Amino acid sequence: MEITGRTRLTGLFGDPVMHSRSPSMHNAAYLHLRLPFVYLPFRVAGDQLPAAVRAIRALDMAGVNITVPHKEAVIPYLDRLDETALRCGAVNTIVNREGVLTGYNTDGLGFLDSLSELGFELRKKKAVILGAGGSARAVAAALLDVPVKSLLVLNRTVEKAKELAAALGAGDKISIFPLKADAVPDLAEAELVVNTLSVPFKQRGSRLVNLEQAKKALFYDLRYGSMPSGFLDYAKELGRPGVDGSGMLLHQGARAFILITGREAPLEVMRKALL
Ligand code: ATR
Repeated sequence: MEITGRTRLTGLFGDPVMHSRSPSMHNAAYLHLRLPFVYLPFRVAGDQLPAAVRAIRALDMAGVNITVPHKEAVIPYLDRLDETALRCGAVNTIVNREGVLTGYNTDGLGFLDSLSELGFELRKKKAVILGAGGSARAVAAALLDVPVKSLLVLNRTVEKAKELAAALGAGDKISIFPLKADAVPDLAEAELVVNTLSVPFKQRGSRLVNLEQAKKALFYDLRYGSMPSGFLDYAKELGRPGVDGSGMLLHQGARAFILITGREAPLEVMRKALL
């Protein structure tokens, strides 16, 4: 990659970022299309987030991706939010247009892209989400837009799941159930179970919830790579199909690429870079 006087900086703000595959994916795409961009990982501590966002303007960066733990915290420092980011209350992409910073969230659509790539049809189906944090909200918003028939949210803190349903204005379509090791929710009609939990699926030897009733569901783990959650091992034990979050990583990245560069994303190049 040749760095010249025209090269523009893009990158990832998060903590940690050391193991992120986003730099490989985006730099491979820039190189392939000979775009004058470079993508670097930036480990940004929480108290440095406002300064890091100011640096986007100061350094005239073209845009950045935002990851854990800044997706929600970054919002007050932006000039605008697109509708999806507003609805999710979280941002994973910032685009700098002449100093005006707009926040987007490509996670939900990236998630849907990964499912349609698998030929998985979601319309009018029943889906289950484990968790009610930021990732769960992005996934829930996307699923409601499909639209799915109904959503069941299982969460340790039931109040948080209620907040999620209220924030998405979907009280009638979302039902809520406590996530407990001894609970056996009725999942007979569920065709998709998405794990968004930030902790391993097995805690002190026992699973966070019993999913045996989900007999015809695809098990989708938002995690990928070297830190498996144990959720897909459970799917295998139950004889259910399972996919990890690498497809979502690819597609949220491709959508972020389009927003930041204004160019079509070279999907196969990006996919290869992730492998
Ligand atoms: P993210 O942005 O990745 O979604 P998050 O917003 O911190 O992360 O959400 C973490 C999710 O994991 C939440 O659903 C959280 O449940 P609570 O709302 O009850 O906190 C869930 N989680 C975290 N630790 C957990 C644990 N020990 N047992 C069960 N669920 C847990």
